[in-house]
Amino acid sequence: MYTPVLRRLVALGGAQGMRAFSSSATVSEAIKRITVVGGGQMGAGIAQVAATFDHQVTLVDVSPEALERGRQYMGKSLGRVAKKKFPEDPAQQTNWVDSILGRIQGSTELSKGVSQADLVVEAIVENINVKQRLFADVAQAAPADCILASNTSSLPIGRIFENLSAERRALAVGLHFFNPVAQMKLVEVVRTGENSEEIVQKALDFVRAIGKSPAVCQDTPGFIVNRLLLPYMMEAIRLLERGVADSRDIDTAMKLGAGYPMGPFELADYVGLDTVKAIVDGWYTDGEGLKGDSLFMPSPKLNELVAAGHLGVKSGQGFYNYKK
Ligand code: CAA
Ligand code: NAD
Repeated sequence: MYTPVLRRLVALGGAQGMRAFSSSATVSEAIKRITVVGGGQMGAGIAQVAATFDHQVTLVDVSPEALERGRQYMGKSLGRVAKKKFPEDPAQQTNWVDSILGRIQGSTELSKGVSQADLVVEAIVENINVKQRLFADVAQAAPADCILASNTSSLPIGRIFENLSAERRALAVGLHFFNPVAQMKLVEVVRTGENSEEIVQKALDFVRAIGKSPAVCQDTPGFIVNRLLLPYMMEAIRLLERGVADSRDIDTAMKLGAGYPMGPFELADYVGLDTVKAIVDGWYTDGEGLKGDSLFMPSPKLNELVAAGHLGVKSGQGFYNYKK
């Protein structure tokens, strides 16, 4: 028996629609055009990786300046990969980077940017209202069979899409990438209870087709990685606030004593302190099963840094100073 999604595809594309949806179809057959909304560190990383694996990508952000920042981020990151790929050949490095950037076009017009998309991945600010408004607009302009995905760190995928039609919700999924996207192999793929098995399968195929490894999980706060990582980061900040050790010693301890590639303060700065704050504040006030949990109660130190605009690596100052 056909699921509603399969029925719609058959209606849309007959045998072709069915082929596009068969689990044996490669993603390059099924998902060709990706639109990434939000060209910050995550969105630029996702766009870059999708284009590296031959997808046509549109990157949407609010201003030409934001798009330019995204482009610079991608150029730098691709440059690092190219140096390893063609160590002896700077001309080939440049060609390779240019050919990938050539598959990514920027846009500040959301409706135009999503109008041809097979998949829209959102990587904008971690705020439920802003994300819901964005997807209301996306739903007005994207093709009816477009897959809608959020890269949220902490928000319930089901809530982000709750105001959309049942048909749109069946095509919505969590695709949670990790920073830096070019280097981190994992993508969490989130079942919502409303998305169909075909969509989860298609999301898994896409993840593998861009060289990543998926982990499937249910729609619970923080999925797998952040549900474990955020309590750790917050406990590190509490150690600092209680004067147990300074941030350098805590970072050194976790790198040399526990084998982590970055200490908790380096990692928080790398993620972005605004994002860390948005995650813990959201969980403390409204997180399913986490509301009022002392692990996530407001941290004076974190609040002070964010209020001062010290957001970590991306602003040049966080727990550490990154200005040259
Ligand atoms: N683009 C492309 N490649 C990059 C890169 C980037 N932005 N950053 C690092 N790399 C590559 C380097 O080229 C290098 O590659 P090779 O090993 O093949 O030579 C490799 O990564 C290691 O880089 P470096 O030698 O420069 O530096 P490092 O050893 O300190 O590694 C790191 C950097 C990969 C970021 C490492 O410190 C690390 O893994 N840190 C932890 C990152 C992490 O935990 N991320 C998850 C954050 S949580 C999250 O993302 C979820 C959320 O919702 C908040
Ligand atoms: P960022 O601050 O680097 O970038 C956000 C980008 O979104 C900015 O360029 C901003 O101009 C743009 N933007 C904001 N509102 C927009 C809108 N309405 N339309 C189009 N563009 C808009 O943030 P980031 O670190 O890339 O995080 C983005 C999302 O990814 C968040 O939901 C975050 O929780 C999640 N995430 C972050 C990390 C991380 O380590 N930073 C890891 C995984 C997931």
